[in-house]
Amino acid sequence: MSSGRFDDSDFVRACRQQPHRRVPVWFMRQAGRSLPEYRSVRGTGSILDAIADADRAAEITLQPVRRYGVDAAILFSDIVVPAHAVGFGVDVVPGTGPVVEHSFAARGDLDRLRPLDPVADTPYVIETVRRAVEALDVPLIGFAGAPFTVASYLVEGGPSRHHARTKALMVGDEALWHELMDRLADLAIASLLAQVEAGAAAVQLFDSWAGVLSPDQYRRGVAPHSARVLEAVGSTGVPRIHFGVGTGELLDQMGDCGAEVVGVDFRVPIDSARRRVGPGRALQGNLDPAVVLAGESAACDAARAVLAANDGHPGFVFNLGHGVLPDSDPDVLARVVQVVHDEGRVLCQ
Ligand code: CP3
Repeated sequence: MSSGRFDDSDFVRACRQQPHRRVPVWFMRQAGRSLPEYRSVRGTGSILDAIADADRAAEITLQPVRRYGVDAAILFSDIVVPAHAVGFGVDVVPGTGPVVEHSFAARGDLDRLRPLDPVADTPYVIETVRRAVEALDVPLIGFAGAPFTVASYLVEGGPSRHHARTKALMVGDEALWHELMDRLADLAIASLLAQVEAGAAAVQLFDSWAGVLSPDQYRRGVAPHSARVLEAVGSTGVPRIHFGVGTGELLDQMGDCGAEVVGVDFRVPIDSARRRVGPGRALQGNLDPAVVLAGESAACDAARAVLAANDGHPGFVFNLGHGVLPDSDPDVLARVVQVVHDEGRVLCQ
């Protein structure tokens, strides 16, 4: 399989480091609270209810494409959807994030992580992908949470600053840790394959909190599992993006996990990231989302600095260094898209 009718899009070609017309741009969390049209269809209650309603979820997926003219859509869903769908007992609390009823603590908790059957367990995800792809004229990015980042929520019971219990499990009971990671890798693989089957033209693996780990912890406890997920999706032929935050010291290892594209947060300039990741990979990033709050001129200047650090390299997708902040002004983001499209250079090798 390939990215189908989107093989010639700027986004897919940039992921593959092939010549293309313009620097492609999309934003993590482009669908969300920063958009008034999102707030008007989101409804109240858990985001999991909005995600389970394919009508609403497909509409939310399309909103940022209409608003910004970005080069890719991202499925409206959440990284905890597979764990929720197999009955682990997790919800997403507005303003807080994922919260788990009974956190993962012992071997017996593995039974609460049975395999995902995407057709039976998450038919709404498949339906949302289908509807969005039918309506879109740019590629749709499917996604999953990487095993470590999902594990951190299940083990901590909710958002955490230090991820201490997760690290303690990783180091203190390696056998159980690897079994937990195996189950979560299986959930991610099943979910990603179903999204690609339904029409997603690329996938992103979100390992948002991997930056709390040392290179050695990442190598032993995490990289093999993320690599397994990425490798399983490799058979589909769609580009794979591997993203984390605070991963400056892990970029070399993340580049070796098999994805075509490595996501870079705002802490590492694109030119140094390229040296760390090596030549075989495209990069995605890395405007600091906080700069968007500083207004149009500061945000556009910072976007130009990101473009300059990339220096015309064809293996580059413009994005933020992490997700759009809820207080962002959509008009500023729209201007950033214009600047990237008008001023970004793509030098053909
Ligand atoms: O536009 C998009 O990026 C697509 C949709 C998307 C959401 N979550 C929707 C969402 C994606 C790709 C995610 C992934 C996700 N979810 C990650 C990885 C990406 C990242 O930001 O690092 C993580 C860590 C989560 C867990 C999660 N879900 C958090 C931390 C939160 C924020 C809690 C809050 O309310 O501040 C959520 C809720 C969530 N997921 C929102 C959105 C748009 C918030 C808005 C709402 O509740 O309506």
